[in-house]
Amino acid sequence: MWKILFLIHVGLAGIWATDYELLLEDPDIFTPCTEAPPGTIFIRDAINFDQLKVEQEADTIHISGNATTTWDLQPNDRIAAKFALFHHQRGNWEPTVFTMATKDFCPMMYDKDQYWFKYWTSFITNREDVEQHCIKKLGTTLIHEPFDLRLMLKNIRGATLSGRYKTVISFEAFDERNVPRPHGVCFEIRGEAEKIKK
Ligand SMILES: *[C@@H]1O[C@H](CO)[C@@H](O)[C@H](O)[C@H]1NC(C)=O
Repeated sequence: MWKILFLIHVGLAGIWATDYELLLEDPDIFTPCTEAPPGTIFIRDAINFDQLKVEQEADTIHISGNATTTWDLQPNDRIAAKFALFHHQRGNWEPTVFTMATKDFCPMMYDKDQYWFKYWTSFITNREDVEQHCIKKLGTTLIHEPFDLRLMLKNIRGATLSGRYKTVISFEAFDERNVPRPHGVCFEIRGEAEKIKK
């Protein structure tokens, strides 16, 4: 009996879950963070995208080429990463329940269960080099095979997304004694949430 109830529950959750995508507001994709602590740098100051080709076509972003890190950290530094979705309501950016954080990004950079792996790091082909240096060593090249990116929020349950949203993505570095490095990295991706028809 419990098993049957469980199956029904899972089945219904599957029906009610909705996928959304974010239709980008800014052709440059990344926007500086509006509420970053002093000393925070923009993603384009931490990673050089000059050799990266980024083309937006309807709801898909085509990416290929190389990016080079310009964030200068020490090999034993720890990088914490945070993703948070905000909704623009009544003139303010209000937090939502959709957040994700990791205290130690580098060992999980190629973890296949992570969003960033599916969306980004799985397409970085010089994995050995990148796994060794992460985004800590100045001048590390991230070589991308061409890939298409659609910014999707999958399996959203118990909430309806509509209107303007932004994802705030931040990286903070700590030295071996857990003292924060002066420059964290922060950027936003803004867009309009749209339901994906199944
Ligand atoms: C990316 O870097 C690799 C290795 O340095 C090089 O062979 C390749 O030509 C570069 N690609 C682009 C688009 O700059």
